[in-house]
Amino acid sequence: LRAKASGLDRPIHVGTAIASTPLVDDAAYRAIAGREFDMITPENDMKPQFVQPRRGVFAFAEADTLVDFARANDQAVHAHTLVWFEALPTWMRSAPDKETVMLDHIKAVAGHFAGRVAEWDVVNEPMDEDSSDGLRHNLWWQAMGKGYIAKAFTAARQADPNAVLYLNEYGVEEAGERWDRLYQLVKDLKAAGVPIDGVGFQNHEYAKGDRTPPETFRQHVQALAALGLKVRVSEMDVSANGDSAAVQAKEFAGKLAVCRDEPNCTSFGMWGFTDRYGSTADINNYPPSPGDALPWDRNLRPKKAYTAMLNEL
Ligand code: XIL
Repeated sequence: LRAKASGLDRPIHVGTAIASTPLVDDAAYRAIAGREFDMITPENDMKPQFVQPRRGVFAFAEADTLVDFARANDQAVHAHTLVWFEALPTWMRSAPDKETVMLDHIKAVAGHFAGRVAEWDVVNEPMDEDSSDGLRHNLWWQAMGKGYIAKAFTAARQADPNAVLYLNEYGVEEAGERWDRLYQLVKDLKAAGVPIDGVGFQNHEYAKGDRTPPETFRQHVQALAALGLKVRVSEMDVSANGDSAAVQAKEFAGKLAVCRDEPNCTSFGMWGFTDRYGSTADINNYPPSPGDALPWDRNLRPKKAYTAMLNEL
């Protein structure tokens, strides 16, 4: 799937999330990871609970291994994620000085990887369409109000001036309040001069009801282009969940084609690539176990979705 291999004038990156255990233990997994993708994302290894398990104590070994793997295979790294309400160490949840904690974390972590990663998810999943202001009232919001988002982007830019900075969200591929709120948020951030470069559309498709039309996604991509923002498909997986493999192929290929066509879409990423280790889209699967949501099967054989994507590149 390496877009580079397709000879496109404006190659988008095709990417995957990588789990560090199989990367070390499973040679067949490692071979596909190194061969098929232009960009990789650590599925968990850069999350706060892993990189800063105790205050001021950093643990970068797994993430560094992943970054080294990418470099050895001529792949870009999309780093994930600096500010989220999940995957936090206990001490971080109970710290009284949340703003200092957030800014110190960004400085240390984005600083550590500066020059070795291309992009960051700076703020992950900030939206809640049912709240008063459209934002999730998570611990960061509770401590700083909505300003935590601008503060996080400003700190990330300072720590790694060359990284492309993304806000990453789920459920915004489709039309509705969630998308409307996100659009307004990033419009306001841009107008205020906040250093945000793009929006990641997770595109988890957990169930039949989550199939989302590519043309709606295209409209959202174009709306963000008009604001001067890049976009990416960041975490795609499609639980077949009783559907045929053909439906799954159509979902993956449809979104990839939009990303390929739209000049501001920079990469198309899936959340893992093989059913052997699964994906969060699989039912009752958190954390993931073997499932059916990804383009390679449990024996690491490419499925219909793989061929369908290849045909779009
Ligand atoms: C998930 C990982 O895939 C799991 O292994 C982990 O147990 C929980 O997190 N949105 C995100 C990702 O931004 O970080 C999540 O990853 C899936 C949903």
